[in-house]
Amino acid sequence: MKYLVKTYGCQMNVHESEKLSGMMEALGYERTEDEKGCDVIIFNTCCIRHSAENKLLGNLSILKVLKANNPKLITAVCGCMSQQPDGADMLIKRNPYIDIIFGTHNLHCLGDYLAKHKKDGKQVVDIWDEGGIEEDIPVRREDDGRAWVNIMYGCDNYCSYCIVPFVRGRERSRNFDTVLAEVEGLIKDGVKEITFLGQNVNSYKSEKKDFADLLLVASKFDGDYTLKFMTSHPKDFSKKLVEVIASSSNIAKEIHLPVQSGSDRILGLMNRKYTRKQYLDLVALLRKFMPDCRLTTDIIVGFPSETQAEYEETLDLLKTVRFNKLFGFMYSKRTGTSAEKMDNQIPIDIKRKRIKELLDLQKQIERELL
Ligand code: SAH
Ligand code: SF4
Ligand code: F3S
Repeated sequence: MKYLVKTYGCQMNVHESEKLSGMMEALGYERTEDEKGCDVIIFNTCCIRHSAENKLLGNLSILKVLKANNPKLITAVCGCMSQQPDGADMLIKRNPYIDIIFGTHNLHCLGDYLAKHKKDGKQVVDIWDEGGIEEDIPVRREDDGRAWVNIMYGCDNYCSYCIVPFVRGRERSRNFDTVLAEVEGLIKDGVKEITFLGQNVNSYKSEKKDFADLLLVASKFDGDYTLKFMTSHPKDFSKKLVEVIASSSNIAKEIHLPVQSGSDRILGLMNRKYTRKQYLDLVALLRKFMPDCRLTTDIIVGFPSETQAEYEETLDLLKTVRFNKLFGFMYSKRTGTSAEKMDNQIPIDIKRKRIKELLDLQKQIERELL
């Protein structure tokens, strides 16, 4: 019996697909990359932007063909898109032949859903409103010397454009000692690079310990390894954390620090809770402690009501900071977020012009940095 997992979206989903694979292998399935030769196919989905959703819906239509050729094939869809309000209904309407649909909070029930579907052949749809922390899911990691480790789930920040708090639930951190035991085990197994994952790793909290405490202890095991983390929110990046990163050669001097915009008015509307100056001060602090620190960022252009002058403040910020890498996005309206209802949505041709110019500027900066 063979299974195939198709993954969309962020590293969180990549790691969760390792858990889906772990559960499938514990059930005796073998992994395949061949769509035509598999018995179970699972789509682990993303809905962060309209474009991500559209691509996925297009790809899901192959299920119909696969099912026609192999009526025994079991098809499952999970992840952020299923978890959206009405997500499961929308998926079923477009793809009635999906056998199993579940959300982000009940990933660990995959085995039960498969058994249920195999028993009566009926469609299984189960979406939970809230999630906890499941520690006993087997993980099938890639054997490439690198590993992802979740330290927290969910997000309470409610940036006004973002769907994540709605599809990943409230913020919850894994236990301090449990995370450290996982890290120690991975290092003993010869893993060379461990990346801590969370929507906002800086808001990690376990009893009286914070993210800086976790990183510090994790950096002190014996062995030759590097620790990385993503993503950190600038509003919670403490001086203590900067000092911890600087203090250990086991912690990579590589920080992904999404700024989103260079305009204070837009940052306010985005509910990011920092100003341009606070962000630039943080960059200065990081560079003071670590002159060679590699900085990367995310930018959204065309947020509702963004003027040309405000957009140019973002360009100016890029010229000031000179990021090593940048992920640029056109603002995409997400149902249920507060920005959805904001006036003055920016026309697509202006967004396209802004993103092109932004990415061209970044390319030039990267050439100069070489
Ligand atoms: N938790 C991470 C971000 C996860 S989403 C953080 O806070 O940094 C990754 C990136 O997608 C965000 O940083 C943002 O730049 C972009 N993004 C999120 N929602 C978006 C939307 N509605 N439209 C366009 N880009 C969006
Ligand atoms: Fe989304 Fe903001 Fe949470 Fe990041 S911090 S996941 S951008 S709401
Ligand atoms: Fe996408 Fe969900 Fe990640 S919406 S970006 S897969 S948290």
